[in-house]
Amino acid sequence: MALDIEKIIKEMTVEEKIQFVSGINGFETKPIPRLGVRGIIMSDGPHGLRKSKDSSETMDTTINSEISVCLPSGTSLASSWDNELIYKVSNAIAEECIHYGVDVILGPAINIQRNPLCGRHFEYVSEDPYISANYASIYVKGVQDLNVAACLKHFACNNNENTRLFGSSYVDERALHEIYLKPFIDTIKASNPYTMMCAYNKLNGTFCSENYELLTSILRKRAGFCGVIMSDWSATNLRYEGVKAGLDLEMPGSNKDNDEILRVALKEGKITEEDLNKRCKNILKLNNVIKEKERKKCDFEKHHLLAIEAAEKSAILLKNETNLLPINKDENYVILGEMFEKNRYQGLGSSFIFPYKREILKQCFDTEGINYKYFKGYELDSDKVDEKLENEALKEIKDTDKVFICVGLNDEFECEGLDRKTYKLPDNQISLVNKVLKVNKNVILLIFSGSPFELDAIEEIPSILLFNLGGEGVAKAATNIILGKVNPSGKLVTTWPKKEEDIPYIDEFKNDTNIRYKESIYVGYRYYDTFGVETNFNFGHGLSYSKFEYTNPSIIYKNGRIKCKLTVKNISNVDGYETIQVYYEKEESNVYRAKNSLIGFKKEFIKANSEKEFEIEIDKKELEIFDVNSKEMVIENGSYLIKICKRLGEIIAQNSIDVVEESQLNSDTKINQFTKDNILNISNAEFDELNGFKIEEKGKEITLFSPIKDYKNSHLIGRIFYKAAIKSQLKQIKKVQKIENKEIRDHLTKNVNFSLKSMLNFTLNAMNNFDCNQMPKHTAIGLVELANGHIFKGLKSILKKK
Ligand code: BGC
Repeated sequence: MALDIEKIIKEMTVEEKIQFVSGINGFETKPIPRLGVRGIIMSDGPHGLRKSKDSSETMDTTINSEISVCLPSGTSLASSWDNELIYKVSNAIAEECIHYGVDVILGPAINIQRNPLCGRHFEYVSEDPYISANYASIYVKGVQDLNVAACLKHFACNNNENTRLFGSSYVDERALHEIYLKPFIDTIKASNPYTMMCAYNKLNGTFCSENYELLTSILRKRAGFCGVIMSDWSATNLRYEGVKAGLDLEMPGSNKDNDEILRVALKEGKITEEDLNKRCKNILKLNNVIKEKERKKCDFEKHHLLAIEAAEKSAILLKNETNLLPINKDENYVILGEMFEKNRYQGLGSSFIFPYKREILKQCFDTEGINYKYFKGYELDSDKVDEKLENEALKEIKDTDKVFICVGLNDEFECEGLDRKTYKLPDNQISLVNKVLKVNKNVILLIFSGSPFELDAIEEIPSILLFNLGGEGVAKAATNIILGKVNPSGKLVTTWPKKEEDIPYIDEFKNDTNIRYKESIYVGYRYYDTFGVETNFNFGHGLSYSKFEYTNPSIIYKNGRIKCKLTVKNISNVDGYETIQVYYEKEESNVYRAKNSLIGFKKEFIKANSEKEFEIEIDKKELEIFDVNSKEMVIENGSYLIKICKRLGEIIAQNSIDVVEESQLNSDTKINQFTKDNILNISNAEFDELNGFKIEEKGKEITLFSPIKDYKNSHLIGRIFYKAAIKSQLKQIKKVQKIENKEIRDHLTKNVNFSLKSMLNFTLNAMNNFDCNQMPKHTAIGLVELANGHIFKGLKSILKKK
């Protein structure tokens, strides 16, 4: 029965309201049994469930999590460019939610991939806002059609991991709206997600969790979002500021210190009961929208087959110059690289799940009876060159028909909570690839990696297959593609830059507190393409075993819609999918522009030696950009060049259309003094001046928002605290290493390693938010004082009675 929200609000005591706006534990909201309000249960995603067996746990759900099917991660699934598939995958995730009694799945994660060094690149969808919005809109529908709530995260501009708990992203208005907010806003308009998670970081100097402009002006008023806004886990600062700004729910729920802060704020008039009512009503509305469902068993085996299908459709054939692929299983093969035995399939962090049935590449090759010899060649968990392993491998490859080398980044090199230190593939893998190429050029490179990397030898390698982090079925999918049972059809949704120096403002990304997004709208391909920077692989690139021919293109603009048509003929003997992409260019403009922007696409299956009509219809709203004067998304008058492409820059046909709108963009504002020419070397002072930012550089003192790694160089007691923090994590590792079952031991070892590494970027504020019994506020403040050398003040605070 639906709750009578107004009545419940009248009957709730003020104390109940204070407590209702935070969770009861790790993944549940508070019930109010006397008023018939149940707790809402959440679980991480986004590419499968990480549901704790015991929801009263606050953090380490992976230690004790239920089994669920691990589907391809964000970038991977998005590379399928297959809307039906995305729907099927998210629908399956919702079925698993119903199986385990989960009301809210914490995904999709749709922050823009601004920089490939971001540790969480794998989980996010794309560098392109159109692809991200399209993906999220379908994902949300697939979940919510089964009456489970989706949660868009992390709002907004959480584009790096090292500084996410304390740093600030400084973003100009155009980049903010056109690139970073667009996926969220467009998804809200297209499919009404019931919940959103705000990001840890500050945006333009204010924490997202207490940012009125972001949460209320933009999200609720402008985008019309009417669901629950929850915090990322422990992402609050001044809790009452959050209540005023529009943050409904603080997660997780073990911070009674914040309840007290709300009590005092009410007393002092900093917030009113009406402010709390608004937050409570939104949470109660969620109870009504998702209703309590009967648990229904789901078919995990069916989902496992879906995981294989999804991985097959998401894999990308990056090169196949001499048609080394597909292979014939009776030739001689040498396979190198430890990834063959331990192919990576999911990323590490809050999305890390216990898979239902993990396929392993080596086993799949054995099952198929492929004739191969295998040598490790390198150690996966290290980057040190091991000459013994290399020599063993090199001895065998001279007379072999083809050499497979399995490479990629593993959890040591990319994971949530910290950013990658380098864009390079680990040294030992680079060394092996280079040495093999000197002996045998028939190399097929198999890549299992959550993000792009630098590898000079890419130019010399004739065949490359990219699997990203393709979920538990990826090894089977890879085997099917290698054998030609499946024709690859994925296309890149993120550019592969050649070198670290090619990534715009890479040093700025590595700053340790304030990150200036100086490249503005020139993110991903919008940068490489506009400024003519050569890449390894362009956005939208991906090959097939089929060959296609393109005829009869037409592009017209009528009644606010751009209509593109094309006939695609499969002129090969292999059935296959082709994806057609539509970009626009505005040559004459009053404001700075990217050369090409994606506005539509279509993927179709075409049988061998037959043809298919492609029709792609695009709403004119895709031409909108942000007008810094009116603060609205508007379309500039004039002519637009519409391009039908195979991938970015490979044009099949193009035509100009004239769009006459009432709005006329005015370039006469400070921010528009950015031009394509000065954007590449803008100084901090100029950037701040143009945007009106007043940015305080990080001080030397330790604060509640200093990362634990900073304590290493603080006063003695801070250094002792640093060592103790590390020691307690190492103790966890030792404990896990005693577990007998190897599979569980390996899985949990990864998890505790993640906690150890990401802890270095953790703050005492976050620790207090996570669990104020273990880290009470007065202890946290005391530790900060001690770390700054204020012994007396520090001890006084620590010894303070509550
Ligand atoms: C992550 C979220 C996740 C939450 C709960 C946070 O650290 O940023 O994406 O949903 O933890 O596990």
